[in-house]
Amino acid sequence: MKILVACEESQAVTKELRKLGHEAYSCDIVECSGGHPEWHLMQDVVPLLKQKWDMIIAFPPCTYLTVAGNRWFNVEKYGEKAIKRIEDRKEAINFFKLFANADCEKIAIENPIGIMSSKWRKPNQIIQPYMFGEQARKGTCLWLKGLPLLEPTNIVERGEFYISPSGKKMPKWCSDPVDKNGKKIAYNCKGIKVLRSKTFPGIAKAMAEQWGGQV
Ligand SMILES: C[S@@+](CC[C@H](N)C(=O)[O-])C[C@H]1O[C@@H](n2cnc3c(N)ncnc32)[C@H](O)[C@@H]1O
Repeated sequence: MKILVACEESQAVTKELRKLGHEAYSCDIVECSGGHPEWHLMQDVVPLLKQKWDMIIAFPPCTYLTVAGNRWFNVEKYGEKAIKRIEDRKEAINFFKLFANADCEKIAIENPIGIMSSKWRKPNQIIQPYMFGEQARKGTCLWLKGLPLLEPTNIVERGEFYISPSGKKMPKWCSDPVDKNGKKIAYNCKGIKVLRSKTFPGIAKAMAEQWGGQV
C-alpha cells in the first residue's frame, strides 16, 4: 500500500510499514530522526492530503488540544496571551479535521485524551503503551475510518508514577527520560517535548502489522 504517516519525525510507524513491504512515507516540517531521509517528506502535510493514498496515519500536534492546559484559555486572567491561545486552539482543531476529512478509505488519527472527543467525536478506542509491551501509561485516543480497533499485543506492568516537587503526579517514563541502555539523560524543555511525543515502538509495530499487514 502507498501510505502517508503524517506528522511523524521519528519514523517509528513508517519503518515498521517498510519492513512489511509497504511504500510508506513519513511527513513532518522538521527533519526525521529515524535515519531514513529517503522515506521522509520534509514539508507541510496539507498539500499531500490532496494526493491519492491507500492509508493515512496521522499524529497531529496536541499542544492546544489537551485538557491539561485549559486554565490558560481564561481571557480575564491571561488577556492577550489567552486570546492568542484560543486562536491557536481553533487552528489546531482545523488542522486535525483536515485528516478526518481527507479523501482516503483508511484513516487513523492519534492524539492524547483531549478536547477533540467533544469538539468532533469520541475516539473509537483509547489505548495504553502497556497493552503493547511498553511499561508506561499514556492514554492515547485513536479515531479510525475503515480500520479495525488495535488488538493488544503484549500486556505488561503499567509502569511507575513519579510525584514532582509540586505534587504533580506523572508517569515515570515522561518525567525521567532514559536512553536505550536505561541511563538517565538530560534534555532541555524542547527536547523533552519531542521525546514525549514520539510513538512507542510497540504501538508503532502493532499499527503497521494490524493495519498494514504483510505485503
Ligand atoms: C505530536 S508530534 C507527533 C510525533 C510522532 N508521534 C513521532 O513519533 O514522530 C506532532 C508533529 O507534527 C509536526 N507538524 C506540525 N505541523 C505540521 C505540518 N503542517 N505538516 C507536517 N508536520 C507537522 C511537528 O513537527 C511534530 O513533529
